[in-house]
Amino acid sequence: MVAAEVQPTVARSAAFPGSVRTAMDLDHALVTTRAVRRRLDLERPVPRAVVLECLQLALQAPNGSNTQPWRWVIVDDPAQRAAAAAIYRAAIDDVASRPGPRLADSSSPAGQRLAASVAHLKDNLHRVPVLVVPVVRGRLDSEPLFMQASRWGSILPAVWSFMLALRARGLGSAWTTIHIRRERQMAELLGIPYDEWTQAGLFPVAYTIGTEFRPAERGRAEDVVSWNRWSGEDRSG
Ligand SMILES: Cc1cc2nc3c(=O)[nH]c(=O)nc-3n(C[C@H](O)[C@H](O)[C@H](O)COP(=O)(O)O)c2cc1C
Repeated sequence: MVAAEVQPTVARSAAFPGSVRTAMDLDHALVTTRAVRRRLDLERPVPRAVVLECLQLALQAPNGSNTQPWRWVIVDDPAQRAAAAAIYRAAIDDVASRPGPRLADSSSPAGQRLAASVAHLKDNLHRVPVLVVPVVRGRLDSEPLFMQASRWGSILPAVWSFMLALRARGLGSAWTTIHIRRERQMAELLGIPYDEWTQAGLFPVAYTIGTEFRPAERGRAEDVVSWNRWSGEDRSG
């Protein structure tokens, strides 16, 4: 594992003036870009220029036929953030009050830690300096599967690139989708034309408290791979 910790901007890239070279190795960024909730710095402002720089890099992501069918609603106004956070909270309460899967399974210590982390974000989302809502063109609910796959594939790589760019600069985020249960309400708040654009999630953005993050527990690649032909065999246990 490469140990280099983040050293924000050290040099501009000649090939792409909007980009920066950081001291963080790409593999290191890939294995340490976590869902950050409790370590979001709620006190340190995030300049718009930093968000734009990360987004500019993210827009290099692959997308179907290079149509770039995305918009990015960036919320940094305190009142607007508070209203968006209220929708997020209400969506979590919807889930909690109904049968079905939870955001975190509290039956294990790891699940309890995750539940506490999720609860922290829920309680503090309005205090996170910037909230980003990526939006993809079209209403995907009623589209054929091919179109859905193409559209999601035309926004989600850019979102992940955005999170990596944040990480390389000492900022963090957490992928969240729970508010999509109340997508129409968020669309009304943010003025997104609901019938023409689909929201992909909501991404809190802040500097992180400390920049050291550990790789997550994940299964082994060998256990989820079949070469040349599908194997239904369960090798995970
Ligand atoms: C599609 C998707 C939806 C998610 N939705 C939420 C969410 O609504 N709220 C939240 O706090 N975390 C959410 N997460 C974050 C996951 O809980 C987190 O990625 C997972 O626990 C693994 O942690 P890691 O990303 O640090 O490895 C979501 C992640 C993904 C990929």
